[in-house]
Amino acid sequence: MNRLKNVAIVGATGAVGREMLDVLEGRRFAHGELTLLASSRSAGQTLRYRGEPHTVRELTKDSFKGVDIALFSAGGSISKQFCPIAVATGTMVIDNSSAFRMDPAVPLVVPEVNPRALDAVRGKAAIIANPNCSTIIMLMAVNPLRSAFGIKRIAASTYQAVSGAGAAAMDELAAQAKAVLGGGKAEANIFHEQCAFNVFSHNSAMDPRTGRNLEEQKMVDESRKIWGDQTVRITATCVRVPVMRAHAEAINLTLSKPATEKQVREALAKAPGVEIVDDRAKNLFPTSLKASGKDDVLVGRIRVDESQDFETRGGEVWATGFDLFIAGDQLRKGAALNAVQIAELL
Ligand SMILES: NC(=O)c1ccc[n+]([C@@H]2O[C@H](COP(=O)([O-])OP(=O)(O)OC[C@H]3O[C@@H](n4cnc5c(N)ncnc54)[C@H](OP(=O)(O)O)[C@@H]3O)[C@@H](O)[C@H]2O)c1
Repeated sequence: MNRLKNVAIVGATGAVGREMLDVLEGRRFAHGELTLLASSRSAGQTLRYRGEPHTVRELTKDSFKGVDIALFSAGGSISKQFCPIAVATGTMVIDNSSAFRMDPAVPLVVPEVNPRALDAVRGKAAIIANPNCSTIIMLMAVNPLRSAFGIKRIAASTYQAVSGAGAAAMDELAAQAKAVLGGGKAEANIFHEQCAFNVFSHNSAMDPRTGRNLEEQKMVDESRKIWGDQTVRITATCVRVPVMRAHAEAINLTLSKPATEKQVREALAKAPGVEIVDDRAKNLFPTSLKASGKDDVLVGRIRVDESQDFETRGGEVWATGFDLFIAGDQLRKGAALNAVQIAELL
């Protein structure tokens, strides 16, 4: 009989780590022993899981003995140091950081998009990378249209929640909002700009040569890797907005072949992990709040982009240009849920 796999969460006390616990519990993921790991700062702290307190232990090089699957969400430098140690111990690693995403030997997987990429590592101790959160959320909405009509070009603009920068960033937004409303000054530590009552260019590193920040570059490079298509044209503008969780994105598409709006809606309606929220009569569409805590990516504002080629045939508009507005919880589908789905597939 197959024994149940022992699971470790590295970074269990963080924004993604806590969500991992919630996702494992919610999906009744069958596992053996569960090990919660974080820095020495959190060792001894307890987190509740399935109604019981679980003690957090300090991550060390010996933490992976007897662990079958390790879910990493403790930042790139910890992943670079400890994922190879875990693999050498015989542990299968699913890593949420960007450390290994573009390594050609490492599968970069969204289960609804490219599950076959896991075939190369099935049954082995290896690293599997979870893609960038904005990329996952975008591909959840765009991939069904790629399957049906092909995709030539994507122009994405993001409206990203502060929790994408971790638990401390959520505290910063709350503290700044309180300070400003109380007539005081907002103190910025995590972000380079005030996040309360403000909208600003994404805080990731800016490439002085291209003018693109790292988040924008990830959306281009990772989408191409996941699709195995280096020719698809993608441009992105990534921006932080003062919301706690769930990223929203405005997406402009050029399909490879013309489609009607009805066909686009039908392709989205049957896509797993996608929910259409598109009530023109009531002006109700995806929002960060509606997406918060949800597994599905919400898709709305589905419309023809008449600035691109279109023609009217048989009373219907056939177009290659379409606009969407989407929202997805980046702590769930953009991180924890996607990682747990990969573990389920394995
Ligand atoms: N937030 C998102 O929406 C999101 C989405 C996709 C991917 N990710 C990626 O997921 C990772 C975690 O992000 P997060 O938002 O959860 O960050 P976070 O809230 O800041 O949590 C960081 C976690 O890493 C642990 N950690 C820090 N230093 C450590 C060390 N030296 N040894 C062991 N554990 C250590 C922390 O433990 P302590 O509590 O002990 O400090 C905490 O559990 C990052 O790589 C991030 O890029 C995040």
